[in-house]
Amino acid sequence: MNIYVYGTGCGAGDLTDEALPASRVEAFVEREGGGLFLGRPVISPEVLAGRDFDLLIVASRETERIARELEELGIDPGKVFYLKNHLVPVDRNRDETPAARALGKDYVNQVRASERLIRIPLWTKRERIEGEGADNDYVRLKTLEAICMRLESVPGAAAELGVYRGGFARWINLLLPERRLYLFDTFKGFDAAESTDFGTGFTQAHRNTAAEGVLSVMPHPERIEIRKGLFPQTAVGLEGERFALVSLDVDLEESTLRGLRFFLPRMCEGGYLLLHDYLNPKLPGVKRALERYEAEAGRVRAVPLCDVNGTLVISV
Ligand SMILES: C[S@@+](CC[C@H](N)C(=O)[O-])C[C@H]1O[C@@H](n2cnc3c(N)ncnc32)[C@H](O)[C@@H]1O
Repeated sequence: MNIYVYGTGCGAGDLTDEALPASRVEAFVEREGGGLFLGRPVISPEVLAGRDFDLLIVASRETERIARELEELGIDPGKVFYLKNHLVPVDRNRDETPAARALGKDYVNQVRASERLIRIPLWTKRERIEGEGADNDYVRLKTLEAICMRLESVPGAAAELGVYRGGFARWINLLLPERRLYLFDTFKGFDAAESTDFGTGFTQAHRNTAAEGVLSVMPHPERIEIRKGLFPQTAVGLEGERFALVSLDVDLEESTLRGLRFFLPRMCEGGYLLLHDYLNPKLPGVKRALERYEAEAGRVRAVPLCDVNGTLVISV
């Protein structure tokens, strides 16, 4: 089978680790083609449109944008399988037979089983979260919006530890345009000493970023302070800072624990810390880190979300 994969981020990394070795991928597709990912060429959607292929697996969360783009390029929707289709209200998959042949029926069923239709809440300010990336984990984004509405009287800065390409940070910056937003990341992936038991796709995908690219997608870049390097060294000098909102998304146990130890004692009353992946079965270190923190500092007040990766909302 002649297979292409749209995306060179975490979705594509997971796919190649779990179901489709990169050696079976003809090429990866990104808006800006060029270079290699996992040893395979990266081509643009326009180049793909000129090729003959059996299956295009969309491993990006930008389902709506990509669906429109492929339609404009005249690509047969019957040859496209959207792995992240469960994040949006519209089911775009027409025929999953080619995907089941390539990835195995079990894998496809597992992806399809998590598909749910979403009811749009009445209170929602839809115009604020829309456009590119808005179909990236709906429940998490709408919870962030609701939380930001409660922060009006809470002082303090915002921060994200674990920024990657800025997918979530961008919404924090949009929803809290007046706040300073600290962005902590190595911007070159995980600390090798800490991330020994992850697949190549997962590890390589997280190296695929840069601080300049992250800044360029921020709606209010003047409010951003990039803290590049390994946390917690990058927090030196911020001991006196206070926070209203923190997103903690580093996937690994020790870094999560360091994040909890630094940020929770510095949260303002009424603030929130969003602990991403708390219920993610693939990243059990996150839950262990919170258990270790609670053993040291006492139980936190928190509500788990039913978003894609099981975020825990810690309320201070
Ligand atoms: C899952 S990604 C973050 C995803 C991001 N929040 C988003 O919206 O797409 C995890 C990130 O944590 C970063 N990271 C992990 N441990 C770190 C540490 N100790 N210091 C700085 N960055 C770290 C990695 O470089 C990686 O970019």
